[in-house]
Amino acid sequence: MTPAPDPRLICALDTPTIGEARVLVDRLGDAVGFYKIGLQLFAAGGMELARDLKAEGRQVFLDWKLHDIGATVEKASANLAGSGCDLLTVHARPQVMAAAARGVKGSGLKVLGVTVLTSLTADDVRADDHSLSPADLVALRVRQALDAGIDGVVSSPQEAARAREIARAAGRNDFLIVTPGVRPDGASLDDQARAATPSAALAAGASHLVIGRPITAAADPQAGARAIAESIAQL
Ligand code: C5P
Repeated sequence: MTPAPDPRLICALDTPTIGEARVLVDRLGDAVGFYKIGLQLFAAGGMELARDLKAEGRQVFLDWKLHDIGATVEKASANLAGSGCDLLTVHARPQVMAAAARGVKGSGLKVLGVTVLTSLTADDVRADDHSLSPADLVALRVRQALDAGIDGVVSSPQEAARAREIARAAGRNDFLIVTPGVRPDGASLDDQARAATPSAALAAGASHLVIGRPITAAADPQAGARAIAESIAQL
């Protein structure tokens, strides 16, 4: 009997077309039950794919990274809540997060705040008029996410431990910490600068792991996903 997919493992469907995404999902079969759809696929029919995946009983993470005036974010989040999807990202700004929390209220859609994009360096953060280091800016935005009443954040594995500590101190043991930048031991880093292994990311406090290329670019994606799931099965 094949084991049920690990609910903590989210595969990033960063394919150019919906057709390629569907082929990948078919190849992965029961090895993955949770998929992230990003902006690239959003612009190519991603919502339709999201609805199809939900109809097939899978979990779906809409990585739309919303950032707009509160009224617009609230209405967009409310519309997305009707899709039955599971996770939605917004930029971790207080007004944006509070608006998204209002928009999804009463639905099963959970909101994550994107703390600091992993592509930003300390110089970029300074140029953006922040006196804080990237790590301190992440911590500030985790506190603001907690205040806004959203469900969690996206952060690199390096910041997960501090985010978990802040959430725990606020009595929010259910707070989600979703980490990209995860690489199995020995895998190519691609463009991930601050990667951690799946078990290290979970040990640091991550609730979910977003993993793309180590699965999607593997010669056998299903075997790649199963190996990752096995490496965290005991945790
Ligand atoms: O690198 P990988 O293919 O595992 O990427 C999975 C997800 O991680 C991507 O969909 C993207 O959202 C995020 N990512 C990131 N920083 C990078 C590259 C990708 O946060 N440098």
